[in-house]
Amino acid sequence: MTAAEEILVLGHHGLLGRAVVDACGPGCRVIAGGRESFDLARLGRAAPPSSQPVAATLPPPEADQRLDWLRDELTGLGPSAADLHAGLDHLASLLAAGQVRLVINCAGYTDVDQAESEPEAALAANTQGAGAVARLCARHGVRLVHVSTDYVFDGQARRPYREDDPARPLSVYGRSKLEGERLVREHLPSALIVRSAWLFGPGRANFVTKILAQARTGRAFAVVDDQVGSPTFTVDLALAIVTLGRRGASGLLHLVNVGQASRFELARQTLAIAGLDPELVRPTTTAALAAPAARPAWSVLDGRRASRLLGQPQPTWLDALRRYLLSTEEKEA
Ligand SMILES: NC(=O)c1ccc[n+]([C@@H]2O[C@H](COP(=O)([O-])OP(=O)(O)OC[C@H]3O[C@@H](n4cnc5c(N)ncnc54)[C@H](OP(=O)(O)O)[C@@H]3O)[C@@H](O)[C@H]2O)c1
Repeated sequence: MTAAEEILVLGHHGLLGRAVVDACGPGCRVIAGGRESFDLARLGRAAPPSSQPVAATLPPPEADQRLDWLRDELTGLGPSAADLHAGLDHLASLLAAGQVRLVINCAGYTDVDQAESEPEAALAANTQGAGAVARLCARHGVRLVHVSTDYVFDGQARRPYREDDPARPLSVYGRSKLEGERLVREHLPSALIVRSAWLFGPGRANFVTKILAQARTGRAFAVVDDQVGSPTFTVDLALAIVTLGRRGASGLLHLVNVGQASRFELARQTLAIAGLDPELVRPTTTAALAAPAARPAWSVLDGRRASRLLGQPQPTWLDALRRYLLSTEEKEA
């Protein structure tokens, strides 16, 4: 990719999006796309009925016509949404300008528990919104990396999940992401769909920062020891995503730090590395916690396909956790 070409990062305020923007480096111009310019939920669903007359809310006819193909194909899109048209127009015109060669979609509805009580919002962003982005990329010949999750699995496996293992999500969030993958593949078969898991990294609250905050109160607290997964550092993940995106990798890919841990182990290691008392963390069970959304009990991802494509395995999660916690910023967190 030459310096004149651009990478569009959707969700650049997010935990992963920030790391992706950093990983793009000085060699290319990054267009960072936040919810204010590209609201996936609005791209993907009909906006609420307008109180204004329809004619007053429609964009100019030529813009309207340009987007007919998309409106026809996505369920539920209504003609009265001026903001929907504006979002689509903005994204479409950016891609039509021909400078963007790669879109990295890190945006999404990520509140796993909240999604149970507002499934429409999760589906609009993670399914229909993801599909709308893929459709636009296909139309303009732009490459796409789309990010998905280990929560597409039911957690019944006892060996790391491979890309071709059947997905059976347990939650609204997991279903919305799986359907998003399906729409992305349908609209843009050459897209790279990256499933990752249990993210931690600088810039935004995450499991590790929450554990640190709890421990600093000095009081003991409970963390589940019956959920096992693949803790992953956003900095490592972002570098791999940008590398593979630039190379034009495609298909489905599990991309995580090497190794596995329970939430309990991850919490205790966090405190040990940070010089706090690991004994503050007590084991509990998922059942005792009674969170609104069901989570897979065992969702370790097999990253061997990614290792082959990258020419080396990802660092272990423990090495990654040390790098994260020993960085100046996180010492101060
Ligand atoms: N976190 C994890 O442990 C984890 C694990 C596996 C996979 N993933 C996947 O990785 C991706 C990034 O996750 P993350 O942890 O970085 O999430 P995050 O920190 O919650 O960031 C998500 C980003 O998406 C933006 N966003 C939310 N709704 C949007 C909408 N309707 N339109 C446009 N932008 C919207 C948010 O904007 P605001 O800043 O305005 O809120 C935020 O910038 C997601 O696809 C997620 O499913 C995450």
